[in-house]
Order: sequence, then C-alpha cells, then structure tokens
Amino acid sequence: MRMYDLILKKRNGEELTKEEIDFIISGYVQGEIPDYQISTFLMAVYFRGMTKQEISNLTLSFVHSGDVVDLSSIEGIKVDKHSTGGVGDKISLIIIPLVASLGIPVAKMSGRGLGHTGGTIDKLESIEGFRTELDSSEFIHNVNTYKMAIVGQTANLTPADKKIYALRDVTATVDSIPLIASSIMSKKIASGSDAIVLDVKVGSGAFMKSIDDAEELARTMVDIGKSLNRKTIAVLTNMDQPLGHEVGNANEIKEVIDVLSNKGAEDETTIALTIASHMAVLGGAYNDFDSAFRVLKAKIENGEAINKFKEFIKIQGGNPEVVDHPELLPQAKHHIEIKASSSGYITSINAESIGISAMLLGAGRRTKEDKIDFAAGITLTKKIGDKVDVGETICVLHTNLENTNEAQNIAKEAFRISEEKPAPVKYVYKVIQ
Ligand code: URA
Repeated sequence: MRMYDLILKKRNGEELTKEEIDFIISGYVQGEIPDYQISTFLMAVYFRGMTKQEISNLTLSFVHSGDVVDLSSIEGIKVDKHSTGGVGDKISLIIIPLVASLGIPVAKMSGRGLGHTGGTIDKLESIEGFRTELDSSEFIHNVNTYKMAIVGQTANLTPADKKIYALRDVTATVDSIPLIASSIMSKKIASGSDAIVLDVKVGSGAFMKSIDDAEELARTMVDIGKSLNRKTIAVLTNMDQPLGHEVGNANEIKEVIDVLSNKGAEDETTIALTIASHMAVLGGAYNDFDSAFRVLKAKIENGEAINKFKEFIKIQGGNPEVVDHPELLPQAKHHIEIKASSSGYITSINAESIGISAMLLGAGRRTKEDKIDFAAGITLTKKIGDKVDVGETICVLHTNLENTNEAQNIAKEAFRISEEKPAPVKYVYKVIQ
C-alpha cells in the first residue's frame, strides 16, 4: 500500500477500506507517514467527507492506537457523558452524584481546560485535598462501592487522535464533521463505557453555530456509537451564552453546590436534569425519560443530591465542608464590577469572549504548561433577557492579578444590550437517537 494512492483515492471521493484506514493511522503514529501527506489526506476528507463505514473504521483505528480501559469488573451498565465543549459547563459535576444516586455506576474520565474552555478536573482540584489521580483498583473500588469516581485522562488514550488533532489545528481541518465525530467518539469508546449521552452544544460559544450543523454532528456520533454496539443518545443544548452564572473553577464548584441544593440557575438545572435522565434510561434504572426526570428533580429538592455530592468529595480526599461553607473555597483578592454602558435588555453574551476574559484573569491556561488560579473567574450577574439600567453591574471579575485591563474590556464587549426584549431562550433543542 502507498500513502500516495490512498490520498488520490480520497481526493477522488472514493471509499477507503478498513485496512487502508488502519494503514494511514498506524503509519502516522509510527512515524512512517510524514505530516505533509496526512495533512493532505485530512484536507481531502474535509472536502470529500467520509461514509458511515469509513467514520466507524477511523474511530476504531484511533481507539486501538492506545490503551482501552477495561471496566468489566464494575457491575452494571456503565453510562458515560460527553460535552462537545462550552464555557461555564459544569454539567458533568452535577450529573455524577445525581446518576450515582440511582445506583447507576458513573466511571468518569475527564480532561483539563485549555484556552477559553474549562476542564472538569481543574474545577474539582479547587477543592482542598481532592485527588484526581486514582490508581485503577481504587477507581474501580469506588465505582463498585459508591457508584461514582472520576480520574484525569490516562496519557495513552487514543494517541493517534492526539497527534492528528494537533495537525488539524494548524491545517484548517478541525471543523470537519467526520473528523470531530471520530475524535470524540474514539475517546469515549476507549474509556470503556457501555452507553454514552452526548451533550452537543449549539451557538456562539460552541464549535457548531447552527442547529443543522449540530444535528449532523450529533447524528454522525450516534451512528458511530451504534455501529460499535454502544447505546448512544445526543442532546442538542444552547451555548449562546455561558451556562449558569459562574465561569472559572472554585466559583463553578460553588454553583454546582447551588444546583444540587435546589438553588441553581434554570438553564443549568434543566440541562443537567435532561442529560442525567437520559443516562438513567440508558443505564436501565427507568423505562422512560419523564419518570427519570421526576425522580432526579425530587432528589435535588429533598437533599439527596447534595448529600451524594458531599460523599463524592469525601471519597476522593476532598474537604466536604465546602458544601456547607463554600467560603472555604479559594477566594480572589480583587472583585471588579463591569457596568452596563446603556439601558435595555441583554440580547447576547459571547461565551467565547467570557471564556477568554476568565483565562486572562488566571482561571485558564493559554498553554498546557500554564498554572491555574482556582480563585479567578467571572460571575455573570445578568443573562440574556434580563433588563439592565445604565451603570448597573452586568458581571464581576474575580482575580489575584493587578493589571486586568484587557480582561475587563473583553468581558464588557461580550455583552450586547438592546432596547428590544429578546425571545425567551430555549435550553434544550433536540434529542437525536
Ligand atoms: N473535541 C475533540 O475531542 N475532538 C475534536 O475534533 C473536536 C472537539
């Protein structure tokens, strides 16, 4: 087989076989195929697309390029959840105790934040003592005993995807649906779960700006899951503004505590209950979505959910006192109020800009090596549809840095204010299964 012939085949819009895809991916990982040939191949995929069979084979090729996590010693149906990425997205932290409280095992592997998006692992590490590096026996013991555990992603999960993603990033081939879908699904499949609920974000702060594009990505991922015998559901949710009111790390933990104590923002509570209810159905606890939703909502109202979160913090070495005393979480020295420059209604809040501003305040990483300041972040005091008067606070920046002019300007520019009241925001658009 020659890489030249395979590039030509894809360039001409023909379907590649499993052997041909495996040849490309393993050849690249082993350093036998150079970057320039893979770059050209990725561009051919960008323009020609891939068939369902090709996408499924590409996913498997990524999966088998590294370790595959074995969760077979965990009893029950293991249901995982994945978000395509958002700002202020703390849904994973809300669903872990919720789903675990139904007796469904949640064996979660999560990543760290980079650029304008945050990472679940970083957020948890803002809780004093919380350990995100468990060895596999402790991880499995915790899931079997308490039905929940979380670890950082292992270094050798889908190395082919890692190498190809880095190349896509510099060759204008990130936004290709077959490539995004296979990249995401390979990590989920390699993480060892039996069923997957995908939270596909749509809007200004997401990869997918339109519902149609998001639906195509969702459909492609659901098809991959089914072709590889994983029950898969995708939920299209709104990312036209950051989720909830808090963007950062410690302040997002505070908001998780609020949601689980029945004091949360409506968007976040609704989306979390929706994702958790689909997980409950896939995990076999309920036959229908509505019953699962009702029970989970009651667990938030009657205190079971927040008690399970306390247990989650405790079993991973964190200080559970933060639940009753969130002031124990890291606090910033400075709190800078950003004021509305006109009166009217908030019509949009650019999520990406808020994410960048939070990163500049110290809450995120510009490069993988950067250290995070857990106390830094942004509180949105106004959201889309809220009325504001000129001079009223629209958000508060929390930081330990002295010079924050750039972050302040970006945060202020993220808000659009108009005299006309916008239409009510929809939180969940569609379910694809
Ligand atoms: N997230 C991923 O993991 N891969 C992509 O290609 C895009 C988003």
